Amino acid sequence: MFESFNFYMPTEVYFGRGILKSKAKHLKKTGTRAFVVTGANSGRLSGALQDCENALKELNIAYKVFEGIENNPSVEQCIELSKLAKGFNADFVIGIGGGSPMDAAKAIAVFVKNDITAEELFSGDYKNGVLPIVAIPTTSGTGSEVTPWSVLTLHNEQTKRGFGTRSTFPRVSFLDPAYTDNLPKSVTINTAMDAFTHCFESFISLKATPVTDALNIQALKLFSECKQSLLKGEFDGIRDKLMLMSTLAGMGIAITATTMMHAMGYPLTYFYDVPHGAANTLVLPAYVNALAKHRPQRLNEALSALSMTKTELLELATTLVPNTIHLSENEIMSFAEQSAKQGSCAKTGIPYESSDIANMYRELFGG
Ligand SMILES: [Fe+2]
Repeated sequence: MFESFNFYMPTEVYFGRGILKSKAKHLKKTGTRAFVVTGANSGRLSGALQDCENALKELNIAYKVFEGIENNPSVEQCIELSKLAKGFNADFVIGIGGGSPMDAAKAIAVFVKNDITAEELFSGDYKNGVLPIVAIPTTSGTGSEVTPWSVLTLHNEQTKRGFGTRSTFPRVSFLDPAYTDNLPKSVTINTAMDAFTHCFESFISLKATPVTDALNIQALKLFSECKQSLLKGEFDGIRDKLMLMSTLAGMGIAITATTMMHAMGYPLTYFYDVPHGAANTLVLPAYVNALAKHRPQRLNEALSALSMTKTELLELATTLVPNTIHLSENEIMSFAEQSAKQGSCAKTGIPYESSDIANMYRELFGG
């Protein structure tokens, strides 16, 4: 007998090489005036921005492009850009890029319709609704194209914080693995590891359901098929698999959200500028050791989907992302306090008091 559960994933997903050209007509469902946001380089270099502009012109959809979403975008930048979008009378927002532009697109879509503060953004209560969002990923990592989640930098709290409601799921997503073909090695590995931690954590989460298990087990298997190529740095044959894995994992975290590994990775990104996926991977050994102690059966099920032993998984993680961080005792205490505040920690099924998390940071970066 299963416990009761629900599943909600309203995003129309179009996947395949050349998909934006062949399925462009679905852009028409979202609006008539598009505000397009992308990174300083990601939109142009991937070819996605050009494809998107061509499609918008063909469909007679007016558009304005902003190229320059910062890495780990701040709430302040999203508020500023929402003013630009409003000035243009945009009636939908397109995010092209890795997690940062897609997450920024979600925040802009909220701010255009709601005159609210940064704090209110995280409350999830948007009285006037949210502009429709279109997502076009150019990395295989974030899963943001199929989740309601947006993670932004909050400078006044010196960390990252997420929001997401049913209204911030993208309306339509176009997933073309070709946009990832020319990504550099480090970005490919860090984003692949972000996607891996999504399916792994979503599977571990106490909020996992039979549907998310199905998605995550398939994603874990796909990751397993890619591991040798990731180690060799040969990505030509695995780009499509990585994008599919990332999207399946995204559908998993759309329901379960992430857990303690992400919470503990955020301070490493904020204070040490460690790329998001790499930060999670650095935390992975202590996370897996805690699971072995407190959730051994669930860990073994995940390892079985990966066709790996615990030792092999830890070896893979430390080979792909070597640990060069050392934290002082003060940093350990402060990072642990910050992580413990993230609600996701309670969904891991392992002890999550600040002192427990401090011990994990010590195991990883102390001494
Ligand atoms: Fe992530």
